[in-house]
Amino acid sequence: MSHETTPTRVDGDATAARAWSPTALPPLLDSEVAHVAYHRPDWLRQWVERYGSPLHVVWPKLLERNAEALQAVPRRHGVALDVYYGAKVNKSQALVRAAVEAGIGVDVSSEYEMQDALLAGIDPRRLVATGPAKTARFHGQLVARGALISVDSLEEFEALQQNGASGRARVLLRCRPASARASRFGMGEADVTHCLRTLAASRDRFAFEGFHFHLSGYDVASRVQALREVMSQVAAARELGLGVQVIDIGGGLPIRYVDAERYAAFLRSQDATHYRNGKLPTSFYPYGGELDAAAWLDELLGTPLDATSSVAEALIAQGLRLAIEPGRSLVDQAAITVFRVNRVKALADGRHVVYVEGSSFSACETWFASEYLVDPILLSFGAPRGEAPMRAYIAGHSCLDDDVITNRLIDFATKPEPGDLLVYANTAGYQMDLLENEFHRHPMPRRIAVRNGAAGGMEVWPDDKGSLE
Ligand SMILES: Cc1ncc(COP(=O)(O)O)c(C=O)c1O
Repeated sequence: MSHETTPTRVDGDATAARAWSPTALPPLLDSEVAHVAYHRPDWLRQWVERYGSPLHVVWPKLLERNAEALQAVPRRHGVALDVYYGAKVNKSQALVRAAVEAGIGVDVSSEYEMQDALLAGIDPRRLVATGPAKTARFHGQLVARGALISVDSLEEFEALQQNGASGRARVLLRCRPASARASRFGMGEADVTHCLRTLAASRDRFAFEGFHFHLSGYDVASRVQALREVMSQVAAARELGLGVQVIDIGGGLPIRYVDAERYAAFLRSQDATHYRNGKLPTSFYPYGGELDAAAWLDELLGTPLDATSSVAEALIAQGLRLAIEPGRSLVDQAAITVFRVNRVKALADGRHVVYVEGSSFSACETWFASEYLVDPILLSFGAPRGEAPMRAYIAGHSCLDDDVITNRLIDFATKPEPGDLLVYANTAGYQMDLLENEFHRHPMPRRIAVRNGAAGGMEVWPDDKGSLE
């Protein structure tokens, strides 16, 4: 694969284009992203002409800004924090590189994620490997490089004991808190105790560093409860003479995609008739939450852990560092996905469908029987168009009736025309490339990274797998 190593300057002229802000669920936008989305449709059109549709546009700098905002919170509480970027959230190499340049660690759950982090220049000791199905080869590479390994199960621990890699394995034990009893991830108390005893007896082979968990959902309370449980494991480890340095609480820090009040009003008002298939999904990501990741972390650290101390105070009293592995929240605002409109079709039932160039594998939750509750911004080009409201769902090139980008009928202020663009904001967090494939043999969508250039222009470079700036 060839890569441009020199960013290309793109300048343009914003005339003859118009951005139509959605009214139901307009995205909350970072000012740099808003400038491009609302004021430079011509740039987006040039980039789509050059790289194809859909196109993912990535702002790596915003990851660094998100990391700084998160790091400031524990500092205020006097707590030492290790941040690991959850690389699984996005396949962008520019984002991994931004994490390394921000001086944070990277959470990798495959040898391929590890290779990308190494390519970006990470110190391997700042890698943490998570996930339940690490291969023997991955284990060997992690041990050889001195990366931290979160051990998910007794079975994984045994595999690690049998691994022939030379060197001491740095390990965390992944706990399965009571609230996650049915989860396949982590170990219950008895298995953790068994591992601790073995670790205490095999210090030549293992360097035990602490405990880990990662929970589904986005609430603070379940993490605080899990921390209470883990604190008793900390005491048990110390009784065995094991040093405990860190508790890693995983990811799950929230993003705010749309305004909270507007979102609550939208949820109250929507029903099955707003969906082309007449089915109202039963669960959604909390797109309009009240807390961003920094506020969430602040609330967690300030919550009482026991009768006498907050989480922050307990961590400090126990001499423990806190670790987090944010994926989604570190890439908050860091990418948009742009689809080119192909045509609008009137259907037999009087409804309309907007066909875009692309598939339902980006900016889409329909594969999870849910919906991405963030409206796209319509960019229109050519002769000025007046308002002509219409409602339509959005589909791509798939031959399957149920394979659509939205089941939801979206309100457009004017009818999209061929060549217009739909801009989906905030797609970097699992919305960008998790499901992508080459269905119908369409090439994989391209990714470009951008940053502000000289004289108000933008610098643009391809951000494909393994690419270097
Ligand atoms: C172990 C672990 N850590 C971190 C994350 C990242 O979570 P999020 O993107 O919600 O922050 C995940 C996501 O599945 C995970 O499994």
